[in-house]
Amino acid sequence: MREVAIVGLGIEPVGEHWDLSLRELAGNAALSALEEIQVDQIDGLIVGNMMSGTANHQQQLGAYIADWIGMPMAEAFRVEAACSSGAAAFRAGLMAVSSGELDSALVVAVEKMTDSPASEISSELATAADADWEMEQGVSFVGLNALIMKRYMEEYGWKKEDFAGFSINAHKNGVNNPNARFRKAISKEIYMKSSMVAPPINLMDASPVGDGAAALILLPAETAKQYFPHSTLISVIASATATDSIAVHDRFDPLWLQGAESSSKKAYQQAGLSPGEIDIFELHDAFSIMAALSLEASGFVERGKAPTLAKEEEIGIHGRIPIATMGGLKARGHPVGATGMYQLVEVVQQLRGTAGLNQVPGARIGMAQNIGGSGSNIYTHILKRMK
Ligand code: COA
Repeated sequence: MREVAIVGLGIEPVGEHWDLSLRELAGNAALSALEEIQVDQIDGLIVGNMMSGTANHQQQLGAYIADWIGMPMAEAFRVEAACSSGAAAFRAGLMAVSSGELDSALVVAVEKMTDSPASEISSELATAADADWEMEQGVSFVGLNALIMKRYMEEYGWKKEDFAGFSINAHKNGVNNPNARFRKAISKEIYMKSSMVAPPINLMDASPVGDGAAALILLPAETAKQYFPHSTLISVIASATATDSIAVHDRFDPLWLQGAESSSKKAYQQAGLSPGEIDIFELHDAFSIMAALSLEASGFVERGKAPTLAKEEEIGIHGRIPIATMGGLKARGHPVGATGMYQLVEVVQQLRGTAGLNQVPGARIGMAQNIGGSGSNIYTHILKRMK
């Protein structure tokens, strides 16, 4: 397998892009990535997306976007893995380039959610759960996460206010990110008083839906060094994934993200690193409880203790393990199938030293973890600055 480097990136602000079509949104991110490296041909286009067939009545995203950007591809296809579609597409591009099957890959992930009514989008999001045993019973995605959070609080004795720090940190970091959906800091009081969605999850525990697209270009590291000797190249030093039961009630322990533990362990092994050596962690804070479970299963804190990390000196930009450094899913936003690529783009920005006011000083190694469903499909990637 060849070492693979990331050489170009494109990112669109997460928001309500009623003036842009699906192809324009994806095309803008893809063209920005291409413009950065000034090439006129790439071998393959891999698109991450969850719901274009229903929300936008458009499938065939590989050919659709290749056509729009005016670049016929040797190969172009879409990858779907619910909320982890973005990272799944990235991994498909990585496998293609590292194996030698493709000599270059453009990975773009896109989701356009705000053209549809909220009730339709909630039903579509619920398709990431088990259709027969969860969705058919009327439980929404927020509802499933609420059950997990309630059980966590009861099992380990935490109160709702103990989770506030996750949301406060994300919103604080969103302020300085021009691509974030929400750019307003919040206080503990705002967190506590915010309207309830599904108890104990309130608005400040839940990530917002949104429209967005993000793109990265992958080349073999040797080629990247040859053609871009003066660029800050980022190497992909680990890529791992694991699944768990799709229905939460089928899990041996619903408070443990087995997919996060398995994929992060594999990733640490591939990279020869331990959690203590990770400089930033872009985790999947779709809900506060998911941030907590992800930190525990990925080895940053003991089981049942994640709320002890929910403070600035632990997870802030200058903290022990900075998370959601550009706002996370909570404040940057969660355009589902595109989110995994936002996380990877943000890690690249941090490792290149271009994260602006949210720059984590001296960041050299960053991890991104994208969760599909309520933990049924998890992707963990580790990136490293090459020089
Ligand atoms: N955090 C903070 N503010 C939010 C918000 C969020 N998650 N979602 C909406 N808002 C704000 C809006 O900006 C708006 O503010 P305004 O009145 O000042 O303009 C207000 O709250 C109402 O917005 P609206 O779009 O009507 O919210 P909603 O009630 O339709 O949706 C949620 C709110 C939380 C239900 C929705 O964002 C949601 O379903 N999130 C979870 C999505 C999900 O399950 N994703 C998959 C996870 S893996």
